[in-house]
Amino acid sequence: MENTLVVRKAHMDDVKSMHGLLLQCAQKGLLLPRALIHLYGHVRNFMVTENAEGEIVGCCALAPVWEDLAEICSLVVREDVRRLGAGRELVHACLAECQSLHIKKVFALTYQEAFFDRLGFKVVDKSVLPQKIWADCVHCAKYPNCDETAVYFELDSAAQEAGETHVQG
Ligand SMILES: CC(C)(COP(=O)(O)OP(=O)(O)OC[C@H]1O[C@@H](n2cnc3c(N)ncnc32)[C@H](O)[C@@H]1OP(=O)(O)O)[C@@H](O)C(=O)NCCC(=O)NCCS
Repeated sequence: MENTLVVRKAHMDDVKSMHGLLLQCAQKGLLLPRALIHLYGHVRNFMVTENAEGEIVGCCALAPVWEDLAEICSLVVREDVRRLGAGRELVHACLAECQSLHIKKVFALTYQEAFFDRLGFKVVDKSVLPQKIWADCVHCAKYPNCDETAVYFELDSAAQEAGETHVQG
């Protein structure tokens, strides 16, 4: 990533910018919109990408789902700074968060299969994510005809025990 883009944990001050980025993508049908109250309540799950001017140009959340499973969601990078590595850095920050939480398995539901493939995620059948289906998917208007692809990444347990970041791709 260019040195001018920095990934860090989100602050309350970032939420309105995160909301704007997510809304733009949601209007294109690329991800689910998030209400401000959801973003304020879940701000501790979020990472943001900040540019040299202090603007928030990307965000991503790591949402724990079960004892050993978390979801990467609300991932967006502003269009003018795409393909510079910001998305990869956001996902890597979430994987580092998995390590500190001792979570070994992470997934995303996405239309961006090629992006996640570059990061070492594998496509899986949604049936291997029963906690996600029963907690969230059944309440979604698209259920049971979801057209998103489930992608999955398993962190290396040896690296996790050593406290190292070990990310493929
Ligand atoms: C998906 C998204 C976050 C990627 O962000 P990005 O900053 O452009 O991604 P990166 O620059 O870090 O790309 C990492 C790798 O994936 C590749 N890549 C990125 N987007 C890609 C795409 N749409 N198709 C194919 N490859 C892609 C890059 O070329 C790069 O490959 P490399 O390993 O050869 O260098 C961004 O396109 C986006 O915000 N999309 C709209 C919202 C969305 O769909 N979010 C996903 C919800 S799960």
